[in-house]
Amino acid sequence: MSCRIVLFSDIHEEAVFSPGAWKDKRILGWLNSHVMRRKRYDRSRTDRAVRRILEEKPDLVIFPGDAVSTGAPAEFETAWRRLRPLAESGIPMIFTPGNHDVYTRDRACRAAMEDFYRKMNGGRVYGPEPYLVELKGLRIAVVHCAKPVSWVMSSGRMTPDTAAFLRRAADAPSSSPLICTGHFPILIDHPLRESRRRIFGAGEAAAMIRSGKIALSLCGHMHEGYEKLDERGYGEICVGSLTRYGSLAFLTYRDESKIFELKRETID
Ligand SMILES: [Fe+2]
Ligand SMILES: [Fe+2]
Repeated sequence: MSCRIVLFSDIHEEAVFSPGAWKDKRILGWLNSHVMRRKRYDRSRTDRAVRRILEEKPDLVIFPGDAVSTGAPAEFETAWRRLRPLAESGIPMIFTPGNHDVYTRDRACRAAMEDFYRKMNGGRVYGPEPYLVELKGLRIAVVHCAKPVSWVMSSGRMTPDTAAFLRRAADAPSSSPLICTGHFPILIDHPLRESRRRIFGAGEAAAMIRSGKIALSLCGHMHEGYEKLDERGYGEICVGSLTRYGSLAFLTYRDESKIFELKRETID
């Protein structure tokens, strides 16, 4: 038996100025989207990636967040318009919000994120708790570590409850490897240098990845994709931004050998 997973991330639909945006960090996100990112991100890559994924018909699609720029309802509407054919294709899909999807505490933005989350996850209601999916010889722990943070931060936090959930899943007797997926990379090489945008509270999860108790972490957030893998394909894969770099990743797990194979493709 094999399991084929397609991953894409950080599509960052262009910022739309929403009511009250001038009062909080949405103004910063709007400027960032319209000044810094305008020419560098090609949002039509999402449409081409959707067609490519539908052609591939994988067993699962994973989208670890940053669908939008400032969390405005109109941004989520655009993201949904592009991703709808995929979400309604019958291919199981896991979407976890990124820091840009939960950018501020604005109520309308929060409601739009929850509506998008539900549609992307086959009707699942958003909650901060982690959950486990079992699919074709794999166990996939889905973690939610993004929450609104201050103007200068784009960090996340893994709660002690989520860490305990991962520990229980890793210790449970099972022949199926455990994958963890969420927005933020868990393996961090330079905690001080990366303190503005890293995940906090994930030390134990990182140790579980390094020891192989968690076979693989699948994440986004860093726009230039990379992987830190051993010869079995165990470790961490940061997908990279689809609209900035055209990053699309294809992961195959083979149950007989318990090995993961990663193939990357660039969407022009
Ligand atoms: Fe991002
Ligand atoms: Fe992010």
